[in-house]
Amino acid sequence: MSSSELGGLAGQVVVVTGAGRGIGRAVAQAFAREGAVVALCARSAHELTAVQREIEAAGGRAVVRPTDVSDEAAVAALVSETLRTSGRIDCLVTAAGVAAFGPVAEAKTSEWDETVAVNLRGVFLCCRAVLPAMMAARRGTIINIGSIVTSRTLPGSAAYTASKYGLLGLSRVLAEEMRPHGVRVGVLSAGATDTPLWDAVPNPPSRARMVRPEQVARAALLMATLEPGATLEEVTLLPQDGIL
Ligand SMILES: NC(=O)c1ccc[n+]([C@@H]2O[C@H](COP(=O)([O-])OP(=O)(O)OC[C@H]3O[C@@H](n4cnc5c(N)ncnc54)[C@H](OP(=O)(O)O)[C@@H]3O)[C@@H](O)[C@H]2O)c1
Repeated sequence: MSSSELGGLAGQVVVVTGAGRGIGRAVAQAFAREGAVVALCARSAHELTAVQREIEAAGGRAVVRPTDVSDEAAVAALVSETLRTSGRIDCLVTAAGVAAFGPVAEAKTSEWDETVAVNLRGVFLCCRAVLPAMMAARRGTIINIGSIVTSRTLPGSAAYTASKYGLLGLSRVLAEEMRPHGVRVGVLSAGATDTPLWDAVPNPPSRARMVRPEQVARAALLMATLEPGATLEEVTLLPQDGIL
């Protein structure tokens, strides 16, 4: 399927969290290639600026918006600034996330708190912030990046798994609440994806056998460009040979 067959995003505005690296970066690049103006969100401004340059070099448009998604006021500012400068928000992709691994018996409370703050509270804050504009427009697509850990149990990932179950539950409820408003809410649950997230993980699975971030981005693009009237609500993307 060529990108033009997917429908295109010309004239649309997309907010991508976690856009500095990994999956969010690939999503931002893919959506910009389809013609969207992309608001790039993460904490590290230098990484966002690098992604903005890559997008502009490819002929696309992107705006750098350094934001901590766990900070309520910062998320409100991200959305209000995007609406002020770009006038609309058609799509939100929440790819900001952190992961800390280790058995529960040795887990640090601070790691639990940070994981839930970014992966769950951050998703809630970002979703809630874009809803008024999407509900007023009676259209919009929210894509929350989930994980295969809600389908397959991974020892050593309790905080991460709990946060992704939370994301799934939040998304399911929000999808029902938004149905009458014409706003689509979906979860894209990825298996192991070759991103910098794995850099700090001891003994990770083979990178060569992981999904590429560009493949996750392609699935997100399909969810965002599906014709109105249909919605891809829960998508699981795995390496073909089925490792995590
Ligand atoms: N890689 C995988 O195997 C895999 C599989 C399934 C699902 N996922 C999910 O996909 C998402 C992206 O993962 P990834 O692998 O692309 O990770 P990554 O390469 O580590 O990138 C994570 C991104 O999130 C941003 N981020 C982290 N904390 C943030 C915060 N508080 N506020 C704003 N941005 C923040 C990071 O930038 P800053 O640090 O500069 O803020 C970075 O841009 C995560 O939700 C992850 O759980 C990943």
